[in-house]
Amino acid sequence: MPAEHTRRPRLIAVAGARPNFMKIAPLLRVLRNRGHLETRLVHTGQHYDAAMSDQFFAELGIPEPDVNLGVGSGSHAQQTAEILRRMEPVLVEQAPDAVVVVGDVNSTVAASLAAVKMGIPVAHVEAGLRSFDRSMPEEINRLFTDQIASWLFTTEPQAEANLLREGIPGERIHFVGNVMIDTLVEQLPRARARDTLERLDLQPGAYGVLTLHRPSNVDDPERLRRIFAVLAEIQRGVPLVFPVHPRTQKALESLLGEQGTAGLLTTPPLGYLDFLRLLADARLVLTDSGGIQEETTFLGVPCLTLRDNTERPVTVTHGTNTLVGGDPAMLLAAVREALAGTAREHRVPELWDGRAAERIAAILERDLGDTGRAQRNGSGT
Ligand code: UD1
Repeated sequence: MPAEHTRRPRLIAVAGARPNFMKIAPLLRVLRNRGHLETRLVHTGQHYDAAMSDQFFAELGIPEPDVNLGVGSGSHAQQTAEILRRMEPVLVEQAPDAVVVVGDVNSTVAASLAAVKMGIPVAHVEAGLRSFDRSMPEEINRLFTDQIASWLFTTEPQAEANLLREGIPGERIHFVGNVMIDTLVEQLPRARARDTLERLDLQPGAYGVLTLHRPSNVDDPERLRRIFAVLAEIQRGVPLVFPVHPRTQKALESLLGEQGTAGLLTTPPLGYLDFLRLLADARLVLTDSGGIQEETTFLGVPCLTLRDNTERPVTVTHGTNTLVGGDPAMLLAAVREALAGTAREHRVPELWDGRAAERIAAILERDLGDTGRAQRNGSGT
């Protein structure tokens, strides 16, 4: 019998940037524990700093990558092209039966394209999210990845509606829940045991957390200045902790100059556990991140999102998220409301229960098992 038929089906999981790591961690753990598929991990190297990458591998128990493509920073075209170029020989050598990608970063779309061009099917975890704002690089990454993926694993019902509208066949779409919440559920007890608040001299429930890194906020000097003028005012009512993303650090240095960061308590990018501890005990959170909208919804902490849209509508309809755009008056009003304690009704969205990775593993095992493989060969895909 040829070797190919005796080995377990092989899966390559791809991660590249910080928000990928908490999504890939439960998938790898569950797939390896179940043992039906052989899994390998490729790190594209999109994020490469200790603070943006290594720390997450260590804290979340992610195994050492089997391959690191080491692409580093660059323009979108450069970064995407480098991942494509460096991924192809890895796929040739490893000959996986499928590739799993997560989220919406450049690594997600580039690895998917490299795989499908070689006839290797792609599974996209966190498929179908749409901001309907094509000026966001992540939106383009989502649209492309979903069009070429064979399995589309979704986190909320609206995602399926988006995919069906774009002509994706329903049988490819699987509503499985949220792998990022799998990680949160697992790590919350460890995070709560951290001395993060003591180190930063903060009291539970008496501070806000700020994160800001979207190009639409930090690359536009006018908008950034406006935001910081309001933050200075908010800071008078509640101290704000601000872990600064490397991209934002550059913008702050060159754009804000002597205006500085409005007296906010700035820190370097934090590890997963410290950041989760901060979120869990915060009075409110101000952010332009995608993932943090979901984490605060799960934790029941008010989240004010400094964007005009969200690709994660369930965090607004069910969760604690409010879109405040870039309008200072709206932001201030929303902060006052959150501080006044008029907490909104909220619920944890369906299937955000810590078991999404199990559901994904079961589907992949079913479809990549011998029967699945025979079916795929028979249908020529
Ligand atoms: C990327 C993702 C974004 C995600 C964010 C989380 C895309 C299109 N965007 O944006 O969806 O929310 O990651 O962090 O993929 N840098 C470092 N050290 C690092 C990584 C980056 O200093 O380890 C600096 C680089 O100089 C780089 C800048 O940060 O130019 C931006 O990094 P990049 O990965 O290009 O995009 P992000 O803005 O981080």
